[in-house]
Amino acid sequence: MQLIKTIKKMKDISCYLKKKEFSLGFVPTMGYLHEGHSSLAARSKKQCDITVLSIFVNPAQFGPGEDYEKYPRDLERDKRIAKEAGVDYIFYPSAEEMYGSRYGTFITVKGLGDIMCGKFRPGHFDGVSTVVAKLLNIVSPDKAYFGQKDYQQTIIIRKMVSDLNLKPEIIVCPIVREPDGLAMSSRNKYLNPNERKNATILYRSLEEAAANIKLAWKYLDGNIKPAGTKTSGINLNEIKKRATDRLLENEVVSEVDYFEIRNAENLEEIKDLDVFYSDNPKAGIVIASAIRMGGTRLIDNMII
Ligand code: PAF
Repeated sequence: MQLIKTIKKMKDISCYLKKKEFSLGFVPTMGYLHEGHSSLAARSKKQCDITVLSIFVNPAQFGPGEDYEKYPRDLERDKRIAKEAGVDYIFYPSAEEMYGSRYGTFITVKGLGDIMCGKFRPGHFDGVSTVVAKLLNIVSPDKAYFGQKDYQQTIIIRKMVSDLNLKPEIIVCPIVREPDGLAMSSRNKYLNPNERKNATILYRSLEEAAANIKLAWKYLDGNIKPAGTKTSGINLNEIKKRATDRLLENEVVSEVDYFEIRNAENLEEIKDLDVFYSDNPKAGIVIASAIRMGGTRLIDNMII
């Protein structure tokens, strides 16, 4: 496994591999790797000849007062995990290498970057789209792998890649969870033992909402309506409110940024499940939430 620090060297290697007709898989990360990242690398290894993993804590996607400075960094640990996962090259540029001193070009994916997480982290997704576009240009992979945990990010990246006619196929891999259900994340490191113990509330509240929606699905599919109604009788606002209340009742949840139920393909809000289902019988639904526990922001989602 080789560590590459410059854009030129990474481009040269990618060019060389192309000439040799090797297929290239790419796993962009901000480091402090966990099993979620290893699962992306494993998928890339299965599907591509060579796997490149980038480690870059991207300053452009952090807002003022966010955790850019304290974001966990441990290159030696990451090298060990990446090697075990079968990564061939780690691309590890500095902020100076990526943005220089007079950087001026940013990518905005309209309509998708200012909802959900974007509402609470203004500019975050412009920073993500920009760095991902740069990384895809530098590494020039055939396939790029992202985790479903950052669901909104995956939708934005897919849209950007399609709108800008970028080359790679975007592959989204399932969320990897701790045994108690907490989605793996580098930021879980910030949680104190009591917060960590309580953090599963996020997963549990998504599961409960999903169970209610699946029930409605069953009603609608089987045409079994609750007595006296013409619909599934499921009210999404009630489901969202119940979940939010339940989250806020937890002793360590300080804020619920959002708890939303949206079209899994385009993130459009679903107001009425019955109308949505009859208009889009095959479409998926994403239930997504972001909460704060003290200084830590946690996100999670479920697709049904
Ligand atoms: O998901 C992440 O870790 C980051 O947002 C990404 C895609 C590596 C861009 O910095």
